[in-house]
Amino acid sequence: MFQYHCLNPVAERGLKLFSEDYRKTENINEADAVLVRSARMHDMELGDSVKAIARAGAGVNNIPVDACAEKGIVVFNTPGANANGVKELVIAGMLLASRDIVGGIEWVAGQKDKENIDKLAEKQKKQFAGCEISGKKLGIIGLGAIGAMVANSATHLGMEVYGYDPYISIDAAWNLSRTIKHSKSLDEIYSQCDYITIHVPLFDSTRKMINKEAFDKMKDGVVLLNFARDLLVDEEALINALESGKVKKYVTDFANPLVAGREGILVTPHLGASTEESEENCAEMAVKELRNFLENGNIKNSVNFPNCDMGTCVSVGRIAICHRNIPNMISQVTKILGAEGLNIADMTNKSKGEYAYTLIDLESAASQEALEELRAVEGVSKVRVIK
Ligand SMILES: NC(=O)c1ccc[n+]([C@@H]2O[C@H](COP(=O)([O-])OP(=O)(O)OC[C@H]3O[C@@H](n4cnc5c(N)ncnc54)[C@H](O)[C@@H]3O)[C@@H](O)[C@H]2O)c1
Repeated sequence: MFQYHCLNPVAERGLKLFSEDYRKTENINEADAVLVRSARMHDMELGDSVKAIARAGAGVNNIPVDACAEKGIVVFNTPGANANGVKELVIAGMLLASRDIVGGIEWVAGQKDKENIDKLAEKQKKQFAGCEISGKKLGIIGLGAIGAMVANSATHLGMEVYGYDPYISIDAAWNLSRTIKHSKSLDEIYSQCDYITIHVPLFDSTRKMINKEAFDKMKDGVVLLNFARDLLVDEEALINALESGKVKKYVTDFANPLVAGREGILVTPHLGASTEESEENCAEMAVKELRNFLENGNIKNSVNFPNCDMGTCVSVGRIAICHRNIPNMISQVTKILGAEGLNIADMTNKSKGEYAYTLIDLESAASQEALEELRAVEGVSKVRVIK
């Protein structure tokens, strides 16, 4: 029997995926696994029972990821589970930037008491007219979960799509429509595209990557969309580019005093992942990750330990070891198991930065003595018997 604790409300569709071997507990200190959305965990003392934390969402700023790794607690997130929600808002953003739909709706609301509103609308509609997105060139910077979905949908809407991502994953590349042009430089995106949308993570290397030099290379009247992170764009330079007419519209999901209410900028209140479906997808993915880890020891989508998969546990004994990524670890582990007469049927050892994970299938169950010896090895943070 496993116990899980929810620090925030988590979509029921996800929680339903826990089998009858799982029980919800209100006491985090007796939980094997913790589900969290936005609750801040930095000041929480976690008991020894906690083996994993799953964040239903992508960002893990609210979780002390390194401190967890040090204690052998595996932290998962749910990358891509909200990608469709963000993609739909990006498409909406392109449409909102193409005709003055927001201005038109506000204008109609302001005329609500006028009897001849229909005739007035016919007269005034010209000022809200614009262009279609079909046939326009869209440049996508970052072709991960969201960028690739935006690329494929935009193709279906008749746009000519250019994609730039020097680090694209094999999965994302396979999923891309063949009509998408592979741009080898950002300059090509800047010089060719009528719409540019950015979908890269915020790193030191990507901070303010859309800056004055980038704007200078863009076509006059370009539309820029930012549903990734506000700090990717140098917004002071953006405002200059808007005032000069270089940028026609900036559509962003990140409100701040510089952009809110400013002419030419459409700001949504971080709505990208705010859909029922995104929340459900994140919850489902989080629960599946936790179950696979607790029941089989497998790790997928952890932010502090490496991916590791030995399939469903069918061997007589399986143990999982969280440890530091240091020399001589495997030889110490195999020596202890060998000395106890335990034969290894299969094993995987993977590392991620300073931390590593070893999963071992044994031909007979590990003894308490062997487990205690493993726990005593310097650099080992957690030893768990899966079976
Ligand atoms: N608005 C929202 O509510 C919302 C929701 C989810 C995610 N996001 C943001 O969107 C970003 C993208 O999300 P995702 O799920 O697609 O992430 P992802 O990790 O699947 O994709 C990111 C892609 O960016 C690429 N990349 C990294 N550095 C690059 C560079 N310098 N130039 C070009 N490409 C580069 C990577 O190779 C990867 O393919 C996230 O980092 C997050 O900040 C926003």
